[in-house]
Amino acid sequence: MNKRELFLNYIAQTSDAPLLLEIEKAKGIYLYDTNGKAYIDLISGIAVNNLGYNRKEIVKAVQEQAERYFHTMVYGEYILSPQVSFADLLLKQLPQHFNNVYFTNSGTEATEAAMKLAKRYTGRQQIIAATKAYHGSTQGAASLMSEPFYKTAFEPLLPHIDYIKFNNNDDINKITDKTACVILETIQGEWGVHLPKNDYLKKVAQKCKEVGALFILDECQVGFGRTGTLFAFEQYDVKPDVILLAKALGGGMPLGALVSNKKILNVFTHQPVLGHITTFGGHPVSCAAAKASLEVLLKENYIDEVEEKAALFKQLLIESPKVKEVRNAGLLMAVEIGSFEMVLSTIKKVINAGVITDWFLFNDTSIRIAPPLTINKDEIKKACSIIINALN
Ligand SMILES: Cc1ncc(COP(=O)(O)O)c(C=O)c1O
Repeated sequence: MNKRELFLNYIAQTSDAPLLLEIEKAKGIYLYDTNGKAYIDLISGIAVNNLGYNRKEIVKAVQEQAERYFHTMVYGEYILSPQVSFADLLLKQLPQHFNNVYFTNSGTEATEAAMKLAKRYTGRQQIIAATKAYHGSTQGAASLMSEPFYKTAFEPLLPHIDYIKFNNNDDINKITDKTACVILETIQGEWGVHLPKNDYLKKVAQKCKEVGALFILDECQVGFGRTGTLFAFEQYDVKPDVILLAKALGGGMPLGALVSNKKILNVFTHQPVLGHITTFGGHPVSCAAAKASLEVLLKENYIDEVEEKAALFKQLLIESPKVKEVRNAGLLMAVEIGSFEMVLSTIKKVINAGVITDWFLFNDTSIRIAPPLTINKDEIKKACSIIINALN
């Protein structure tokens, strides 16, 4: 069998229409297939490669750590230099009350751990999430999905989950002294990029404080510069109790985290002891990559350039009569073109022309554009002209 046949036969498939690009190598914003064809990755492997592919500082950190040690012991037992140094650097970028990190392997595991944390910390059962939100695919995180399409087949999922509509002030009253936590995406990504309006996040935070519920913001997709600040919540003058991190956190390696206050995360240490455990969470090689990636983001100007680059994308794309609207939070953009058929045919056409885009889980009438933050203006112009040609 050739590689394509091996993939289709031996790798479990999650849709009938995989993209089927056979990747040979990747560098910067480009993926290269086995025929040597280059593709501009406008989705960053879904919000992971904020610094593009194979960034030299990250490669070096991974190589050096791989030569020292890989896995040594389950999470939380040994003092691992890459883990503690990265935690130190990460916490220095956050408001002071964030002084403790629990590392996982992925975003969905960060969500799972946060749900357990909130129940244990408050002694309550109800968890509130927003409709059209996405926090992961394991059973706890999937329970937070409001859309029956993706979850009915897997029921029963968790009980005591309730939903509020994002940006709806009346729904905030559903948060009561029965609520263990409210989990929101800072920006609703998979709904096709919807931003909080009119101090919405602050109002939810205030209500959580009043009733003693934890306020948790999921920054998995929007963290690490994607929206023009290191973390998206910084733009909303709000103080969550917990943030969830993943995706770009690991600089391309698998890593997730929940960050909170020591007083809150300490509940995992007793009643029961080992309240949340993981074998690989906070893997030394992933933490080394994460630290190198964060150092580059802090040193270079990519985050400062996000708004200008996003404005160029918008200015160019809106020229097409097919584009109804471009919603964006920095370089997380949804190009609304009004029909799923057009989204599918555009994705297909632009891939043939060497540009990778996608759609959103809960919004299939928009094209997803979330390139590496390192993309330059000429590359933006080239990618946009390919998209506009395909649309027209
Ligand atoms: C906002 C958000 N939270 C959580 C997740 C889950 O992350 P992972 O796929 O690493 O489990 C995602 C993934 O797309 C996400 O976008």
